[in-house]
Amino acid sequence: MSSKVPVCIVGGGMITQVQILPSLYQLQRLGLVGDIHICALNSAPLRTLAEDPMLKKAFPTQQFIAHPPLATDPAQNKPELFKETIAALPKHSIVVVAVPDQLHYGALQVALQYDQHICCVKPLVLKHDQAEEIGQKAYEKGLLVGVEYHKRFDDINLIERRLWREGKFGEFKLGHADLHECWYYRHSNFQNWCTAENSDAFSYIACHYIDLVHFLTGLKPASVSVYGIKDKYPNGREGYLWTDGRVIWQNGAVLNVQNSLSYPDEGPGGNYQGMRLFGSNGKLGTMVNHNDQFRGVEHAYTAKGDSPGDTQFTQPNPTYFQFLDLGGEGLTPTGYGYRSIAYIIQKINECRAKPTLEARREFIRAIDAEGIMATPRNSAFNELVMEAGRMSILNGGREVEITYAPQAGVRFKTY
Ligand SMILES: NC(=O)c1ccc[n+]([C@@H]2O[C@H](COP(=O)([O-])OP(=O)(O)OC[C@H]3O[C@@H](n4cnc5c(N)ncnc54)[C@H](O)[C@@H]3O)[C@@H](O)[C@H]2O)c1
Repeated sequence: MSSKVPVCIVGGGMITQVQILPSLYQLQRLGLVGDIHICALNSAPLRTLAEDPMLKKAFPTQQFIAHPPLATDPAQNKPELFKETIAALPKHSIVVVAVPDQLHYGALQVALQYDQHICCVKPLVLKHDQAEEIGQKAYEKGLLVGVEYHKRFDDINLIERRLWREGKFGEFKLGHADLHECWYYRHSNFQNWCTAENSDAFSYIACHYIDLVHFLTGLKPASVSVYGIKDKYPNGREGYLWTDGRVIWQNGAVLNVQNSLSYPDEGPGGNYQGMRLFGSNGKLGTMVNHNDQFRGVEHAYTAKGDSPGDTQFTQPNPTYFQFLDLGGEGLTPTGYGYRSIAYIIQKINECRAKPTLEARREFIRAIDAEGIMATPRNSAFNELVMEAGRMSILNGGREVEITYAPQAGVRFKTY
């Protein structure tokens, strides 16, 4: 048992495997967190994590504590186990929420009930009211909640944020963003939940670039319209697997966002993503242009790997999450996926070190105002976009307005 702050990850799926757990193992190695508990619906994903060859290679002497234990029958589901696992942690530990989107709200409430700080994968919740409630409850208790939008920690974006705020790009006018995940996603657990009645490609994916445009420019979305095309998953269920969204911002600027589960599995990237923003100072045009998929690196291997989407010729992304051999034991994570988790954990540790409730609240107000880390109170516009997007897509792409005051909400635009 370590004297450092314990962490409990709720959810042992893909994002835990590729980003959260290796980041936390590294922070454990650095002495910034203590025991790592992981709670999943059943033991199956926990066994996958415990046996992951890359994680074993990178962290050969580190382990997590499994809930339920690894030896439990994988067919036995324990949907309530996360509650007792969180309750058993000392107050002011860290809960990382990494369950499917619709379960975030319940897990967040339990974490706050037991006075835990929180790191939550995007989207925080699906409804704006819920984001406000979580933000308010956490603030009252002096608990920090960080929402993990990792594009914010890509150096390219941090550099551009500074330049936007220095006025180097003038005012944002017109933009386009793409994020297309691979076709093979359709064969995964997505087909069981990302179906037309629950979600769509815009809700699941578009938030990354919409959050980023706010992060860069400081603008907030004013209206949203989303056109979706339904397609069938391998299991026969239907989803809006192709979406085209239009977000109008408070200054009248527009961002067009296209998302899908269609990037060819034989394509060289892990997905297709990028963004172009055009701006102006009234006299000259300005531009920001990213290819966020092809980072200038190309590899051709002796053979292709055996994971879905592996190709012999690849364009690996060196900036999201990679392991480096820097000597010493195992391997060291690098990239904005790691930096994002490390930043949130560091801020939680700073908050924990404050001597009084009032000092923790003051710290939370400062983090909210700084806007580097997304929090329930400074990024709840993302939940308004989610609500507006769902309302629009289910109504053939009608434009839905977002209001912030006196009462935040969404409604069909009238002309
Ligand atoms: N780019 C990103 O920021 C990014 C990328 C991928 C996923 N995500 C988010 O991460 C979350 C998880 O996605 P994923 O791809 O890892 O999903 P996944 O389907 O691979 O894993 C979900 C996990 O939740 C667990 N779970 C389900 N119900 C539970 C319960 N009652 N108690 C405990 N555990 C439970 C399952 O056992 C599973 O391990 C989603 O909210 C998703 O939107 C974010």
